[in-house]
Amino acid sequence: MIELSLSGVAVVTGAAKGIGQEIARTLAKAGARVALVDVDLASAREIALEIGGMAYACDVTDKAAVEATAREIQSDMGAVRYLINNAGIVSPPGDPFTENSEEDWDKTFAVNVKGGIFWAGALKSDLEAHEGRIVNITSIVGVIAAPFLPPYSVSKSAANGMTRVLARQFASKQVTVNAIAPGYVWSPLWEELGIDIAKASNGAFGENATDVFQGRVDSLVPMKRAQTPEDIAACTAFLCSDLAKNITGQIIGVDGGITI
Ligand SMILES: NC(=O)c1ccc[n+]([C@@H]2O[C@H](COP(=O)([O-])OP(=O)(O)OC[C@H]3O[C@@H](n4cnc5c(N)ncnc54)[C@H](O)[C@@H]3O)[C@@H](O)[C@H]2O)c1
Repeated sequence: MIELSLSGVAVVTGAAKGIGQEIARTLAKAGARVALVDVDLASAREIALEIGGMAYACDVTDKAAVEATAREIQSDMGAVRYLINNAGIVSPPGDPFTENSEEDWDKTFAVNVKGGIFWAGALKSDLEAHEGRIVNITSIVGVIAAPFLPPYSVSKSAANGMTRVLARQFASKQVTVNAIAPGYVWSPLWEELGIDIAKASNGAFGENATDVFQGRVDSLVPMKRAQTPEDIAACTAFLCSDLAKNITGQIIGVDGGITI
């Protein structure tokens, strides 16, 4: 039987809620010791308690804070082998794109792109010394356009590009860098996004967040079902395992066929 087992420390950003929370649980079940990083320390602590991990308050857009948090994790838990760049935000809607402010662009890129680069830099030596793994949680809208959300869609394309560049730079050290592009996953992110879509479309996709979400799933997912945090977490654990040691620089859609 093929065993999927991990050993070493995993840093999961945005681990307090949604997809990140489930990635933290799954990596812990597979044997990793998990450092849960989030701006929401109280929620991250609850999950850390549940899975025997440790929680850290850190805004991934603050380079100095990322470096200080990385040192704290190394001192508390030891060398880091797995980095999961999952923290992400959705931009305010912008159709036409001129509706988005400079701040919308800056904030979205800071979290969705620069945050991942800061973390990869802060953990570079550990990752290179331990045949490490980086998994970036990007999005299908980094593969296909989301005209309704320009900064989000463009930032996720950049995060996919960042995955390929880092994969090339880390390759000779046996560090793999991949992206998972989720489709539609119900999470706290959708509670706000669903309302934005309902308002901007005058209810064409439904009146509340859950109706909008289900409407998108029914009309856009060939497999006619939503994706789950567990789907994304399982793929993450696989990419972190030795089974995936020759997979690098890939953008893997976990999307029920949306991007076919
Ligand atoms: N839910 C979906 O349908 C979906 C689809 C495609 C991609 N994604 C991506 O998956 C990832 C997780 O999404 P989710 O649905 O779980 O979102 P979520 O909003 O439910 O959770 C995101 C987490 O990231 C944290 N976070 C936000 N900004 C941060 C910052 N600056 N520093 C540290 N932590 C920060 C939040 O506090 C929160 O705990 C994101 O990158 C998102 O873009 C989600």
